[in-house]
Amino acid sequence: MSKVIIAPSLLAADFGNLQRDVEMVDKSDAGWHHIDVMDGVFVPNISFGMPVIKSIASTSVKPLDIHLMIVEPDRYIKEFVDLGAAVLTVHYETCPHLHRTIQRIKHEGIKAGVAINPHTPVSFLEDIITEVDLVCIMSVNPGYGGQKFIENTYNKVRALKELIIKKKATALIEIDGGVNAENAKHLAKTGADVLVAGSFVFNASNPHSVISNLNTIANSK
Ligand code: DX5
Ligand code: ZN
Repeated sequence: MSKVIIAPSLLAADFGNLQRDVEMVDKSDAGWHHIDVMDGVFVPNISFGMPVIKSIASTSVKPLDIHLMIVEPDRYIKEFVDLGAAVLTVHYETCPHLHRTIQRIKHEGIKAGVAINPHTPVSFLEDIITEVDLVCIMSVNPGYGGQKFIENTYNKVRALKELIIKKKATALIEIDGGVNAENAKHLAKTGADVLVAGSFVFNASNPHSVISNLNTIANSK
């Protein structure tokens, strides 16, 4: 089993001290920076856009895992690639031509991900799973940090793991929403490869040690 990656979500960072928080993640046991882009249309919230990501990218050393919660993501693929995305994830629910969108992202030489909302079954990915580098299972309804983890996520991780094995695919399984020290181990054991954690990390008095703790929990046998 390869190492589980912890990806702190900067949505929960202190935007008044963003550079400090990015640096803290860079110096921590985290593997990636998770960056949530929300448009106020696909999800009922607006987060931040290109100038903020540009500023994050200018100082960060770890890969940027960009999660697009926006309609018509194709319009911005090139821009996010130019900003330095290492992983670019679009939502299944926003892409009528998902196969084309995934090919476009991969054509740019970065990892292509697809995220599915809590109501979207894993089986809908059957004909795209061999094309994607990552599947993000939303374990809350996208739009806000700090929500409660949806327990049905475990069933979806199991189903996705089975699908990946059945199709001989290599997609990483990412879990996004409500991840904490209580569910991290079970998620990793069930098959998760990447754990996104926002409020659990940044609301803590010592985020650096929370990341290291999550990393230990997720990677202990
Ligand atoms: C939700 C975002 C998540 C969010 C996770 O729409 O995609 O990445 O920041 O935050 P927590 O860990 O607080 O649920
Ligand atoms: Zn996210």
